[in-house]
Amino acid sequence: MFQVNDNYLKLPGSYLFSTIAKKVNAYSKANPDKKVIRLGIGDVTLPIAPAIIDAFHGAVDEMGKAETFRGYAPDLGYEFLRNAIAENDYKARGCDIEADEIFISDGAKCDSGNIQEIFSVDNRIAVCDPVYPVYVDTNVMAGRAGTYDARKGTWSNVIYMPCLEENDFVPELPEETPDIIYLCFPNNPTGAAVTKERLQEWVDYANRTGAAIIYDAAYEAYISQEGVPHTIYECEGARTCAIELRSFSKNAGFTGVRLGFTVIPKELKCGDVSLHSLWARRHGTKYNGAPYIVQRAGEAVYSRAGQTQIREQVAYYMNNAKYILEGLKEAGYTVSGGINAPYIWLKAPNGMTSWEFFDYLLENANVVGTPGSGFGPSGETYFRLTAFGSYENTVAAVDRIKKL
Ligand code: MLT
Repeated sequence: MFQVNDNYLKLPGSYLFSTIAKKVNAYSKANPDKKVIRLGIGDVTLPIAPAIIDAFHGAVDEMGKAETFRGYAPDLGYEFLRNAIAENDYKARGCDIEADEIFISDGAKCDSGNIQEIFSVDNRIAVCDPVYPVYVDTNVMAGRAGTYDARKGTWSNVIYMPCLEENDFVPELPEETPDIIYLCFPNNPTGAAVTKERLQEWVDYANRTGAAIIYDAAYEAYISQEGVPHTIYECEGARTCAIELRSFSKNAGFTGVRLGFTVIPKELKCGDVSLHSLWARRHGTKYNGAPYIVQRAGEAVYSRAGQTQIREQVAYYMNNAKYILEGLKEAGYTVSGGINAPYIWLKAPNGMTSWEFFDYLLENANVVGTPGSGFGPSGETYFRLTAFGSYENTVAAVDRIKKL
């Protein structure tokens, strides 16, 4: 008789954002007269920019003509897109990343979940706490996390690196040595950024201890301050220790379109084995590539018009972030983030837990956010709001919260 992968049975509850969606849908069904404003999941609301839409149309037309029709995409992605990424995201910033070190995919969520497959099941992971839940859950599924302590909300084989107000939500180097370190900056969920000097310490640490860093830079387009690195490859030595994950979801509105990429430098090796070759093997075997029309749309993100238009969108969301940040400060909340990231991280008031505050806000202000404990035990008394709503909804949500 078949048996299931019982690592899945160890997972407590459903995926964080599915749990929230279920709760909100139940509330809306029971209260059809209430206008609920959703600032929970970090999903974009602006339509895709015109220069990108034009590229979509052009590519769709190409698919309808025998001379320009395309079948399977190259395993690792079309060169036109990989070249555009290498030039604009890396070489323009002085980082030595070649097009053939870039793997195109259908998004950073999938890549951040799948990348652990190329590491030994015996490897120990370290994560920030709080953390994007995909990193931990996928390691649980793979059997790498140990056992769950429901009281503490922690896994026995995971090293948690608390990110709290005291350390500006940037983790200290861990006391126990991990094999794989997940870092995300600008950070989801806290909205914190890391300076280049601090990130360099992590790169040096990883090279010293032989650990690999999986660096999620999905929110890079939101960086507004000098001295905050846009890629880990700005740090010296990152080519021998770091994998970088990037997304088109948040900078160009591709959450429904799906496009992302992973960078694995060829020097990143375990003995003689390069992680680049393992990921290439996995990609070739398990994946048939992001659609041609989507990759052409991704290329248009790097056009002059595309860049201008997506910067306007990022500015629109960051104006929302500013409104939330200032509004909540005025209302007496302790808030952070929202300067280099589209997330605002606030302390739940009056000693409430994060789920208590979730219910309170939903019922009394009809505003949805994300409870901090969904991202890990150190998020227990925190709450996340996203700046990805419309300006009108953002203003209405903040005004409702102020009136509570
Ligand atoms: C979030 O809300 O944390 C993100 O939107 C989730 C994701 O990007 O998968």
